[in-house]
Amino acid sequence: MKRSWWIGAAMLVLALASGGAAQENVLVLYGSPDRDWVAAVAAKFEKDTGIKVQWIRASSNEMYARIEAEKANPKGDVWFGGTGDPHFDAAEKGLTEPYCSPKMAELREFMRDPIGECRTLGLYAGPLGWAVNEGMLKKLGKPMPQTWDDLAKPDYKGLIAIANPNTSGTAYTTLVTILLMKGEDKGWEYLAKLHKNIAQYTKSGSAPGQLAGRGEVAIAIVFLHDSVMFAEEGFPVKPVAPADGTGYEIGGLSLIKGAPHKENAKKFIDWALSPETQIIAKDFRSFQLQSNKKTPLPAVVLKHGMDFDNVKTIKYDFLWASKNRDRILKRWTEQIFSQAR
Ligand code: G6P
Repeated sequence: MKRSWWIGAAMLVLALASGGAAQENVLVLYGSPDRDWVAAVAAKFEKDTGIKVQWIRASSNEMYARIEAEKANPKGDVWFGGTGDPHFDAAEKGLTEPYCSPKMAELREFMRDPIGECRTLGLYAGPLGWAVNEGMLKKLGKPMPQTWDDLAKPDYKGLIAIANPNTSGTAYTTLVTILLMKGEDKGWEYLAKLHKNIAQYTKSGSAPGQLAGRGEVAIAIVFLHDSVMFAEEGFPVKPVAPADGTGYEIGGLSLIKGAPHKENAKKFIDWALSPETQIIAKDFRSFQLQSNKKTPLPAVVLKHGMDFDNVKTIKYDFLWASKNRDRILKRWTEQIFSQAR
């Protein structure tokens, strides 16, 4: 009698578990590139696999904060895109876990395994630069900026927009680029000067491009593929690569530790690294260099001369950028952002 009670209870538990699993054919997608592309990726994955996708979009460092806050009870399965630095930091802090996708062999070498041990995979890459409203500069009688030093000159006071690095990976890439190019002492001095010229800090990385396009500012510090996007959308902006060199991002793709739908998350990662998936990015005006060797660079990037072969890039130290993330953000917020402009 006692035994059959146990068997019955065990069968009920099994039935509930499998019923639960059937209802759980979902993927919770945390995306950090521009919203239209994330939405399109979610819809395509659902269509290709029948797995229901629940998704949200938040800027890279905002998403990082969310994943950290949910650490004890993870809700997201996969973190798709956004600059690599917070992905790498999340991996170091054990918020995400390694996954060696079978697709890795198909990726461009520098994006294949950017910090080693499959702790995050490269989804795309793109150099940092500016979107410049040349017409506005001409009207104001200001020269076209050529180098990072130019941007910090009093000439451009109130004429530049950039995102806030506490939310945006684009802006954090800018901080690291400057600190690596100039060294810490000179770099912090420079950032204090640049701050004086900033008219507006936005939440998301590409948003300053719109401000430049509408003539609210003359220069936006954004990724060059975003600058190309605004130019192609018909905004009067010109993509400009700093002549003295610039940093770049490797967009991350990470499996969140304790993902509630881990198998679906792995399926998604393999799928996201295929050329058939990556090719759609350009249809949603995301013009990064995608990681799969078979995904060509969008022709518009070449048309504007903003590809890696034409832009002078620095040796961006991803591990340094991620290991020093907390310190750099704290110092920038306390010593730079808090200053009057
Ligand atoms: C844009 C770019 C992406 C980049 C992302 C970072 O969407 O096209 O390449 O990864 O910005 O966003 P964030 O808002 O964190 O700067």
